[in-house]
Amino acid sequence: MINKRLISQVSESKKYVAGNVIFQWAGLASNITMMASITKLLSDVFENNVTKENVTTALIATVTALVVRFICAIGSSKMSYLSSKSVKLKLRELIYSKLLRIGASYNEKVQTSEVIQVAVEGVDQLETYFGAYLPQFFYAMLAPLTLFAVMSFISLPCAVVLLICVPLIPVTIVAIQRWAKKLLSKYWSQYTALGDTFLENLQGLTTLKIYSADEYKNEQMNEQAEKFRKITMKVLTMQLNSITIMDLIAYAGAALGIIISVAQFRHGNISLWGCLLIILLSADFFIPMRQLGSFFHIAMNGMAASDKIFRLIDLEENETPSEKVSFISKDIKLNNLTFSYTEDREILHGISMSFPEKSFTAIVGESGCGKSTIASILMGRNKKYGGSVTLGNTELTDIPEEILMKNITYIGHNSYLFKGTVRDNLLMGKPSANDDELWDALEKVKLSDFIRNENGLDTELKEKGSNLSGGQCQRLALARAILHDSPIYIFDEATSNIDVESENDIMELIHTLAKNKTVILISHRLANVKNADNIYVLDKGNITESGTHDELSEKQSYYYKLWTAQQKLENYTGKEKA
Ligand SMILES: Nc1ncnc2c1ncn2[C@@H]1O[C@H](COP(=O)(O)OP(=O)(O)OP(=O)(O)O)[C@@H](O)[C@H]1O
Ligand SMILES: [Mg+2]
Repeated sequence: MINKRLISQVSESKKYVAGNVIFQWAGLASNITMMASITKLLSDVFENNVTKENVTTALIATVTALVVRFICAIGSSKMSYLSSKSVKLKLRELIYSKLLRIGASYNEKVQTSEVIQVAVEGVDQLETYFGAYLPQFFYAMLAPLTLFAVMSFISLPCAVVLLICVPLIPVTIVAIQRWAKKLLSKYWSQYTALGDTFLENLQGLTTLKIYSADEYKNEQMNEQAEKFRKITMKVLTMQLNSITIMDLIAYAGAALGIIISVAQFRHGNISLWGCLLIILLSADFFIPMRQLGSFFHIAMNGMAASDKIFRLIDLEENETPSEKVSFISKDIKLNNLTFSYTEDREILHGISMSFPEKSFTAIVGESGCGKSTIASILMGRNKKYGGSVTLGNTELTDIPEEILMKNITYIGHNSYLFKGTVRDNLLMGKPSANDDELWDALEKVKLSDFIRNENGLDTELKEKGSNLSGGQCQRLALARAILHDSPIYIFDEATSNIDVESENDIMELIHTLAKNKTVILISHRLANVKNADNIYVLDKGNITESGTHDELSEKQSYYYKLWTAQQKLENYTGKEKA
């Protein structure tokens, strides 16, 4: 139950644990002094030996011991606080920096809700491990030895019997440890599973309401909550039962000590003072161990949490590129690229593409054919691909994430806006930008009038920009992307949730951008890709054809059929409107 790895991870907490043990030990010493002076006075009373001096000495000793105990109690809780503080800080820092190192592809390895629970609740659980359990572990060994040393001067048999009984408590602890460990690991799995469902349902609550599926999800969650309740009750029962057993051992041991000391007194082997002192101190032999036993359960919980924390910290990191690539060529090449999310289903079946620097390339194809998958591979989110993806001569996996993010900007159909002001969100694109630059970007996406009528750059956005319309969100995200000013842009259905006029504005902007940037445009609407330098037509993870709009039209194959169908539809709706 001493997790060396955990302790070495937060080595600065060692001094606080040591400080805590010293304070507790000093508290015990003052307690012994106090008991000794009180029992001495009592025995003086029985033996008619009370003098003014005796009373004064007892009083002074008792008050001094009380003051020292009080100071020690404050000192030990202060140490507890300091070690908890350093543990929380250190572990959360570790988790955070690990996630940063894993980077954009973290979703491949761990679920968001698990990260949240481990970083919040999991770390909190370890607070008790460092703040209470660890110091108690050492103190619980030191205290009986100290009491043994004191008592052996009064009655060796008593001291020996009490000392022998103390280890029975840790023996009980060890006996239940294996069982408890299994139970707690199950408890944690169910806890994170419940948290996962809760987070998902909360995020999708509006959708659930729309489809009146909230009741069904409610039942599902109730079932999960019921399972969690059952396992929680099992854990509590296990804890209560073991505490009862430990109590029995502690009180029976103390009673045994008391009986022996009384017997010794009757046989005249010890004085009344000695007998009284043993009676009062017997329980103290067991209290620290018994306390350790109750902290043990919380510590076990912490141990289970620490397993989860270490699982996160030990997650395989994508190899940090050995040589620091600081410059990458903007020519992108995919060569025989294969990719699968799950082993049993390949999504991309060996595709080769080329996106030369400052070219305007489009990828089209029906839904689910793998267009976004290509985009996320290029953004470094899916690293386990086959074949090769190169920027110039450098393989994508050899490019540090930071460099990649500086060079490629991805704009999906559902860009994330953060709670805060418009300025905050825009500055993410270019932290050094001044207000003129921000307005310029807003102008380009034709959002400046709206923002000006609100509160300017200080307009507050709610979480995910929920107080803006879908189109406004997208324009703002686009302004942020323009500010990022990277050499490569990937637009993945970036205009799919805006009206046709805004779409045309944005497409115009993308076309302008394509003059001096490498632009990859993924779009369902073929009218948008007509002017691309090259169009790749994807079908079920294969490239079926590629070329310019004219070349593809000439072939009169799949692309052409799709194009004419869309044109017919658009002309038809156009006429309808007219
Ligand atoms: N995270 C994922 N895990 C497992 N399978 C996935 C995942 N994301 C996508 N897929 C699968 O990969 C295939 C390609 O998905 P992708 O998102 O690349 O399609 P797409 O061409 O962008 O489609 P759309 O035009 O609808 O956006 C789909 O069949 C989808 O089921
Ligand atoms: Mg897609």
